[in-house]
Amino acid sequence: MAETNVDSILGRIVVDKQFCTDAEVRECFDVMKNLARQGRPHSLSDALLAQGYITQSQLDRLNQHIDEARPTHRIPGFQILEKLGAGAMATVFKAKQLSLDRIVAIKVLPKRLSENPEYVVRFYKEGKAAAKLNHTNIVQAIDVGEAGGFHYFVMEYVEGKTVYDDLAKGLVYSETDALDIIIQIAEALEHAHERGLIHRDVKPKNVMITSDGIAKLADMGLAREAADQEAAQMEAGRAYGTPYYISPEQIRGELDIGFQADIYSLGAMFYHMVTGRVPFEAPTPSAVMHKHLKEQLVPPDHLNTELSVGVAEVIEVMMAKKPDERYLSVKLLLEDLRNIQSGGPPLHAHRKFDPHALVDLEKSSPGTDVTLENVLENNGNPEDLGTKILIIVLSGLLLVAILFIIVLMSKPN
Ligand SMILES: Nc1ncnc2c1ncn2[C@@H]1O[C@H](COP(=O)(O)OP(=O)(O)OP(=O)(O)O)[C@@H](O)[C@H]1O
Ligand SMILES: [Mg+2]
Repeated sequence: MAETNVDSILGRIVVDKQFCTDAEVRECFDVMKNLARQGRPHSLSDALLAQGYITQSQLDRLNQHIDEARPTHRIPGFQILEKLGAGAMATVFKAKQLSLDRIVAIKVLPKRLSENPEYVVRFYKEGKAAAKLNHTNIVQAIDVGEAGGFHYFVMEYVEGKTVYDDLAKGLVYSETDALDIIIQIAEALEHAHERGLIHRDVKPKNVMITSDGIAKLADMGLAREAADQEAAQMEAGRAYGTPYYISPEQIRGELDIGFQADIYSLGAMFYHMVTGRVPFEAPTPSAVMHKHLKEQLVPPDHLNTELSVGVAEVIEVMMAKKPDERYLSVKLLLEDLRNIQSGGPPLHAHRKFDPHALVDLEKSSPGTDVTLENVLENNGNPEDLGTKILIIVLSGLLLVAILFIIVLMSKPN
């Protein structure tokens, strides 16, 4: 059987998903050629199964991807050009928006989600909210719609790579490069949070970097599939998409997820970028989630000793298990990140680490007020003050006594 389009797509996908190697796929194509010569045509799936390189259930799951990989979806007003990629939830295509003659990216949801009315309602609601945002560091949401039973999300097309692409190659970012990216994404989050939108899925795959070094946060306003806990479990069950960056409160399935969840995930990504390791690694996704909840973080500067103490402190505060022990806003986080970038200390992180550092913070701010703490700090601690008062009182008494004796002695009899 000649190598068909389906065979070549399957060949690419099985290697992409690391089910087998390129050499094994080529070996299967050779086997197929031999069989075809003998008048016994076989497809690549037959050959992969016969050689034992994949199982039937893996094949079934891959077939779903192949269906989505073929740009058969017709979306009025757009011309699908090519497939850009696929994640755990959807497939992304490069397309031309005919009315404006511009290139866009379109994320097409699988049928399974398009048929879930509750999800579709959230998809439109969040998509509309995201389209109101406008920020250099956010992949611009353009439109949401439905065609042929498929729901889709139109967004700005970003030419570049994702942070995940670098990390997958084993790249460890320098502190300066990582800071530059994290600051840009924090700026994106500040913009979204101020307008009431929480991302809930900040991770290296959702951060794209253009050739000019602009970092863009993708999937802003793309509703997650279910309650976060359920979504995390579902992602965890797949060969890809492990919960390395998810916050403890999302794992617990809390209903009211605040902006601190984004700060945690950004911290986890920062950790990965500067250490080359995810914060919590374990053999199974549920063990990874358990560690997010319970295990103490190995300080990032223990893994990369070149890391400044400041960056390590900021990451640890971002990744505090309890949301209210993290930064109280992305604005404060940005102040620390920018301070580090210009060679200063992360003052807010210091305060979180050590309440006494509050005094340092106040002292170092311009126009410091004279406070009791300042006075205490400049003159020692409260016990020292007590001792000083005692000494002054005793000295005073001694002086009075001496004066009294002098007066007595100088009195004529
Ligand atoms: N706006 C865009 N412009 C260009 N390429 C994009 C854009 N959005 C996504 N992509 C590409 O499509 C791929 C798939 O994106 P998608 O959001 O579906 O999954 P993901 O974020 O990689 O993973 P997951 O589904 O686990 O969240 C991305 O990895 C990226 O390479
Ligand atoms: Mg994505």
